[in-house]
Amino acid sequence: MIKNTRTLGEFIIKNQLAFPFSTGELSSLINGIRLAAKVVNHEVNKAGLVDILGAYGETNIQGEKQQKLDVFANEKFIQALDNREIVCGIASEEEEDFVILNSDDKKNQNKYVVLIDPLDGSSNIDVNVSVGTIFSIYRRISPLGSPVQLKDFLQPGKDQVAAGYIIYGTSTMIVYSTGDGVNGFTLNPAIGSFYLSHPNMKFPEDGSIYSVNEGNYVHFPNGVKQYIKYCQKEEGNRPYSSRYIGSLVSDFHRNMIKGGIYMYPNSEIANDGKLRLLYECNPMAYIAEQAGGKASDGQSRILDIKPTELHQRVPFFCGSKNMVKKLEEYITTCQ
Ligand code: AHG
Ligand code: MN
Ligand code: MN
Ligand code: MN
Repeated sequence: MIKNTRTLGEFIIKNQLAFPFSTGELSSLINGIRLAAKVVNHEVNKAGLVDILGAYGETNIQGEKQQKLDVFANEKFIQALDNREIVCGIASEEEEDFVILNSDDKKNQNKYVVLIDPLDGSSNIDVNVSVGTIFSIYRRISPLGSPVQLKDFLQPGKDQVAAGYIIYGTSTMIVYSTGDGVNGFTLNPAIGSFYLSHPNMKFPEDGSIYSVNEGNYVHFPNGVKQYIKYCQKEEGNRPYSSRYIGSLVSDFHRNMIKGGIYMYPNSEIANDGKLRLLYECNPMAYIAEQAGGKASDGQSRILDIKPTELHQRVPFFCGSKNMVKKLEEYITTCQ
């Protein structure tokens, strides 16, 4: 029996009607993402059966070995967005430069740019562990009628008009926000529709899970080391549980439901950490704040950072508000 009967399609229409002057373009854009999500989901689900597991044979601009599903998901999301007359350009973790959509110059009239991490958690594909997709949407700031420019993609995260993620997990979900809270939709694979299953999602203010790749502990800054020791200390509701999947989307999703903190710090071997500001940190920070959580680079709000380059990396600490505040205290006091 399906207990939630409102579909994502109905939810999008209802929200659009609430804004009488809305043109429906953003709704159509989210619909494009919904469609691509189903296509990628179909491929992820049968990954062990068809020849789509394993390495693609190329290295991407991040210096990572691309997986076949990285390349497939990248193509499907770009195709789905190119087919609609809404998006003028796309930047992707898997593309060296941003992609200009301007067939016949018509798309130069389009208002939105999209930034994507097409497949998050690539290293988990071959071992049948949850992966995801992350997307971020901005209104362009360059004049309509001209090709999209780099500055359209380098806007601070606080200017996002929508952001979300898809999780290809035990069930497939879309979780997104257009600046009015966070809602989650679960795919019924038999029917091919997403249903509103998690309305108005909220990060618990406190939590008892910490998620970090502790294999890198020796390289972490002292403040982060001391905070991890705090998490492990027997006192009050501590020690906290350590949970690390290695897919940002999955780790974030669990922490938002149960209460927790995700950390990818800077370290002696990676000055700015690993995660990408534009495709990973900004969209997740936007969702976190919309759900009452907090996202920081250790000192400042992620959404206030003015990006300087497409593939910029940044230390990332995100989750339950009080846990992220405590982490910031440790970073400030334990230099
Ligand atoms: P991607 O698969 O899109 O390149 O992202 C991988 C990211 C993120 O999902 C995850 O949390 C992190 O890298 C894991 O990194 P480590 O293996 O260094 O812990
Ligand atoms: Mn990657
Ligand atoms: Mn990623
Ligand atoms: Mn990726």
